[in-house]
Amino acid sequence: MPTIRKRPSWALPESAVTPEEVFLNRRQILAGLGAGAAIGLGGGLMPSPARAESDPSAGLYPAPRNEAFTVERAITPETVSSTYNNFYEFGSHKQIARAAQALQIRPWEIVIDGLCDNPQTIGIDDLLKKVSLEERVYRLRCVEAWAMTVPWTGFPFADLVRLASPTTDAKYVRMETFLDPDTASGQRARWYPWPYVEGLTLAEATNELAFLVTGVYGKPAARQFGAPLRLAVPWKYGFKSIKSIVRFSFTAERPVSFWEEVQASEYGFWANVNPEVPHPRWSQATERLLGSDERVPTRLFNGYGDQVADLYTGMDGERLFM
Ligand code: MTE
Repeated sequence: MPTIRKRPSWALPESAVTPEEVFLNRRQILAGLGAGAAIGLGGGLMPSPARAESDPSAGLYPAPRNEAFTVERAITPETVSSTYNNFYEFGSHKQIARAAQALQIRPWEIVIDGLCDNPQTIGIDDLLKKVSLEERVYRLRCVEAWAMTVPWTGFPFADLVRLASPTTDAKYVRMETFLDPDTASGQRARWYPWPYVEGLTLAEATNELAFLVTGVYGKPAARQFGAPLRLAVPWKYGFKSIKSIVRFSFTAERPVSFWEEVQASEYGFWANVNPEVPHPRWSQATERLLGSDERVPTRLFNGYGDQVADLYTGMDGERLFM
């Protein structure tokens, strides 16, 4: 992975802009949505129906909802969540939906390697035959202090770990996004350490909440959400939920994640949500709900403490919330 020595200041992550600027940006988007009917935004930004139909996994959706994973918040309208995305491979702004349609999601091979007994390369459709899909409604809290609520379809990360059968030396799983600067113009920006990398401890990856996502809103995931395979770890800031994964490697060493390599003082490995630990440049006490003007208090572990707090007992020396 190339190492960043110096990055132009204008290449700061979106999260570096002030919350006011982010807010204004969203207002523009919502205004744009209002005009969407007139300018045919649905047709312009969304994958075309023909493209969605040609997805060979389309028949697997909608999958049954697992009622153990629902939340009290309203689901964010798809028109909002699918037109306001972080996917730096396609640009360092939120309006990447159209550019992301260039991503070829078939064939899509996933490499499983490292410290495991069953290393393999498996196509996404073969992987889908080995798991059983379900829908879960999760909150997603971005480090930039906005939040959404999304019905993801997918399967427990624990199922993939079982398939790989990690050895006793494996302590972490490192995940990697595709690398294709010809398709993803953002990857031509050399000051970022492409490909996007994330990591979890094995205990985190096998926690019941860790979910590998293949669909959103009852159909195969649109490309801007990270098709055909992305992560959802709702107790952590959104940047941990890596999109369009091509590789899972089981390791003894803690992986260095993309944003950690870019700016470790602001984006750490653990990145668990905590309203009382501010980002160095803004408060994390509250969050904006996308699609409304509401601002609500942020909750420890994004409200999932009952499921995950135990993962971190005895780790007081770690920067668990950054
Ligand atoms: N994965 C990749 N490969 N590239 C990215 O830029 N952005 C992350 C995460 N996963 C990102 C990524 C960030 S910062 C967030 S908040 C979520 O994706 C956003 O997911 P969404 O666009 O589905 O809301």
